[in-house]
Amino acid sequence: MHLLNLAILSLVGSTDAWQAGRPRYGLVGFSFYLYDPPCASACQGVFRKNPIFCTDAASFKGSGTAGMSHGGSPMESSDTLQNYTTTPSAACLAASEDFLTSEAWCIHEKCTDIHIWKLEKWWENYVVGNFESDPPPSLSYGAALALVTSKPSYTCAKGINMNGTCLPNESIWSARFLAIDKYNEVENQHEYFGLVVFLTSIGLPIVLSLFRFAPFSKRWASTLNGRIIYTSIHRSWRNSFVVAVFDQPPTLGQA
Ligand SMILES: *[C@@H]1O[C@H](CO)[C@@H](O)[C@H](O)[C@H]1NC(C)=O
Ligand SMILES: *[C@@H]1O[C@H](CO)[C@@H](O)[C@H](O)[C@H]1NC(C)=O
Ligand SMILES: *[C@@H]1O[C@H](CO)[C@@H](O)[C@H](O)[C@H]1NC(C)=O
Repeated sequence: MHLLNLAILSLVGSTDAWQAGRPRYGLVGFSFYLYDPPCASACQGVFRKNPIFCTDAASFKGSGTAGMSHGGSPMESSDTLQNYTTTPSAACLAASEDFLTSEAWCIHEKCTDIHIWKLEKWWENYVVGNFESDPPPSLSYGAALALVTSKPSYTCAKGINMNGTCLPNESIWSARFLAIDKYNEVENQHEYFGLVVFLTSIGLPIVLSLFRFAPFSKRWASTLNGRIIYTSIHRSWRNSFVVAVFDQPPTLGQA
């Protein structure tokens, strides 16, 4: 039974880890991938180092930007940084056309073999952020992509203000993609082994207990019982001084 508990714990545990994000149901790695599709998930956060134009106070709160040190208004920071922040609020991201069109282009370029419905679904849930409280994007994936009339002309290198649609930095995207791909693979294996242990610990006893209906001869049955069910798991333990302390060792049938 310990094995069973362990298996259940390992299954519950892996979905537990997602409590912080949007609620999802099923076994990680089977009914869905944590980061699915990886090409799109690698686009999420690829522009993290690019200041984004925001006007809401939440985007500038406690970010330590120049704006805050000049009396609390982002208006007072140097003019090139005016109202640009690397700590945009979810509401700002959800509304930012620059951000959404750049993300849409990234996904369009990287996810060439993924169904559009899947991309739209991912977009709706994750382009802004992983939290359930995050507002949905103001544009659908299709609508954001439609706003990009030609391939963006510049890459959003680290620190460059996002003031239009830009391309993702290739090396940052690739690093994210590899990490996510590896993560999915490991997570999938983890679930696979969890499920094997789970099914074995439930299924095997059932199958074994069905053996009693099999037409074994009496002699066979008692041999089987003797060998498998009543055998001590620790032979040498029996009849030794240990018994005096720990009592008889459990038999295989008990274990
Ligand atoms: C910058 O944001 C503030 C609010 O934080 C807003 O009042 C101001 O109009 C914004 N500046 C520009 C240029 O949009
Ligand atoms: C992409 O990022 C890497 C590492 O941060 C940097 O070395 C490279 O110059 C960047 N490329 C572009 C086109 O911005
Ligand atoms: C975006 O900002 C860069 C400087 O960071 C500037 O050279 C460029 O003209 C701006 N583009 C637009 C569309 O405002």
